[in-house]
Amino acid sequence: MTVQTDVLVIGAGAAGLMCAATAAARGRRVMVIDHAKQAGKKILISGGGRCNFTNLYLEPANYLCGNRHFVKSALAQYTQWDFIDMVVRHGIAYHERDHGQLFCDDSAKEIVKMLLAECDNGGVQLRLRTEVESVSKLDQGFAVATSIGRIQCQSLVVATGGLSMPKLGASAYGYRLAEQFGLMVLPTRAGLVPFTLQPQDKLHFEPLSGISLTATVAARRGPAFTEQLLITHRGVSGPSVLQASNYRQPGEAVSVDLLPSVDVAEALAQARQAHPKRQLQTWLSEHFPARLAETLIAYHGWQNLPLGQLNKATLEAIPAQLNRWQLKPGGDEGYRTAEVTLGGVDTDQLSSKTMECKTVPGLFFVGEVMDVTGWLGGFNFQWAWSSGYVAGQNA
Ligand code: FDA
Repeated sequence: MTVQTDVLVIGAGAAGLMCAATAAARGRRVMVIDHAKQAGKKILISGGGRCNFTNLYLEPANYLCGNRHFVKSALAQYTQWDFIDMVVRHGIAYHERDHGQLFCDDSAKEIVKMLLAECDNGGVQLRLRTEVESVSKLDQGFAVATSIGRIQCQSLVVATGGLSMPKLGASAYGYRLAEQFGLMVLPTRAGLVPFTLQPQDKLHFEPLSGISLTATVAARRGPAFTEQLLITHRGVSGPSVLQASNYRQPGEAVSVDLLPSVDVAEALAQARQAHPKRQLQTWLSEHFPARLAETLIAYHGWQNLPLGQLNKATLEAIPAQLNRWQLKPGGDEGYRTAEVTLGGVDTDQLSSKTMECKTVPGLFFVGEVMDVTGWLGGFNFQWAWSSGYVAGQNA
């Protein structure tokens, strides 16, 4: 038996549910299938369980994409304010944190509940634990063979997400489907991901795991991010590191300013004049936790002398290493802990206004499966909402 529907969405994550609810609100018959046993799993664990669902200060520049203009239309058609309206309509209380990030007061479950209620209102049929076996193009629409039978649809929306967190149901299926239809898939790699340290660096910093400080981190080809940096058992994490990871190419060093609000050369010169007998470690401890101050001295091989006795080489090395430390990570933690996937379905082959494939009418890609990656701070969910919405208006 073949089930007929107007729109079939593969993937009941953030973008898929938004797309389904939007298409259903237009009166389209919509079905969503997902191989997971629960919808919106990533939403549920996001933002420490409170879902950082959007950002007040959203700009196209907060996104990485092969075509930097691509995100503009969808983000303008469905803005952060539109999503906030929906959140308010559903009575979900939220609050703002640093940098305009909006989180639920209570639980990310409320966002999933809201999306499912929107889907329900439009009569969307949700089929979980459903595998896609094959997809073929018909003269009109598509035929999709699945573990629950054959489904025929006019529009097919691929909302299968990226590769991060395979435990949560992530798969490469969306990329394979894109390739089946002749679309280009740009190389993928983990984004918003902690760095691991090289063994010799790890020896020094691992005992400091748990220490965090405000630092500026910049990859060679990216902006500088001044946020928290956290030392972990494996390396470094925290928002400043995760943000920079989106821009770092494998093998490259990142520049780390451990004291972004201090001109270390100037502060050191002043301290030498005022307190020439003060030990270097004592002075560093005025700026860093004591254990980190001690480690920095050992790591860089400085002598813990009175400030007045430091030689020229050390006086030059201290500002360089504190304000412009060139840290070469061992690598990154990969998809196991990455929040997002960089790369994916090439946007050149998609309409930026509708997310429809230019060469295959009726085929849409939404959310993270495509080559659009946002900064940390609610930008990735907003892309899921915006791209899902515009596809839902057109599928
Ligand atoms: P998503 O991954 O949400 O959904 C894809 C769906 O497709 C899944 O339900 C999956 O099971 C299904 N699927 C995959 N392959 C399939 C197949 N072959 N057949 C059937 N179904 C299939 N972003 C943000 O803005 N704020 C935040 O607070 C966070 N926090 C966060 C924490 C953690 C731990 C992670 C891993 C990620 C985040 N993110 C985030 C990123 C955000 O979760 C992500 O960008 C969006 O969920 C992407 O939405 P999509 O709908 O594209 O994919």
